[in-house]
Amino acid sequence: MNPTLHTAKSTLKLTRRLRRLRSSAAMRAMVRETRLTPDMFVLPLFVCEGEGVRREVSSMPGVFNLSVDEAVREATAAMGDGIRAVLLFGLPDEKDDIGSSAFDPEGPVQSAVRALKAAAPEMLVITDVCLCEYTDHGHCGIVIDDEIANDQTVEQLVRTAVSHAAAGADIVAPSDMMDGRVGAIRHALDERSFENVAVMSYAAKYCSAFYGPFREAAASAPKFGDRRSHQMDPANALEALREVEQDIEEGADIVMVKPALPYLDVIMRVKERFQYPTAAYQVSGEYAMLKAAARNGWIDEQRAMLESLTAIHRAGADIIITYYAREAARALR
Ligand code: PBG
Repeated sequence: MNPTLHTAKSTLKLTRRLRRLRSSAAMRAMVRETRLTPDMFVLPLFVCEGEGVRREVSSMPGVFNLSVDEAVREATAAMGDGIRAVLLFGLPDEKDDIGSSAFDPEGPVQSAVRALKAAAPEMLVITDVCLCEYTDHGHCGIVIDDEIANDQTVEQLVRTAVSHAAAGADIVAPSDMMDGRVGAIRHALDERSFENVAVMSYAAKYCSAFYGPFREAAASAPKFGDRRSHQMDPANALEALREVEQDIEEGADIVMVKPALPYLDVIMRVKERFQYPTAAYQVSGEYAMLKAAARNGWIDEQRAMLESLTAIHRAGADIIITYYAREAARALR
């Protein structure tokens, strides 16, 4: 061994040794800049028709299609883990070309909102507002001459958001990326005395390959074409700022960036620029990748989960929508 490595006195003259603050668990905890708490997690739930249904989504282990009674059960269990908010998606039996079942007062989402609010009034209930789960062609809007017609789609979205508010939703979350929908929804809610229902807009939602497993969970893959005419080009960040600015002007209370981990730069720019309540959606593909790698024994799932969520929060997200909500909340205990 080289004897020079054993000199008692250090020869380096350093005024700052950054490793000092990493020397023990207590030291690291004291200087930690980012802390996750279950309060910031939102658990997505896929609500289907029927009773006693709990069907696992094959590409999303631990995620289920749930009938209303089972959704209530899942939400109540999540509360036990410390989760205080859920985001509802609907899986109707009936679909048509204009997504009429989206605003059926007896639809899965509307029924689940009522049941959840009755069973657990303190739970924040957020509803996803989009037509893709309700149209037979799987597009997020009304298709006219092979195009998604913006303004006609907005009318259907407004009806949907109002029906969710009437059922008792605390927050409606339009995820369709049509222009002008936030303002139209805000206006319609106010007109009907739902001025306390908040709008969380999927403001910068990218046209992403990472939604694949969700489309299996929600049976919402488009039967033809894609979503490039409304969801954002992954190459653009400045455009995301314009989307967010416009949604804030139209009355959004919370703005969202989606997906999360591949778009940390966008989350950071949105938070820095607008200083607004900012949400990020760790989407199905992000979840499925971690699950798949963990199942193969290729990563330590708990560490990878917490590291991803910490990174999303560190980038600037105040709110994280994640299929890991319950597991993460439990891991933080
Ligand atoms: C649209 C919607 C989608 C997701 C949330 N809302 C799918 C899409 O745009 O195709 C994706 C969520 C996920 O991948 O976890 N209603």
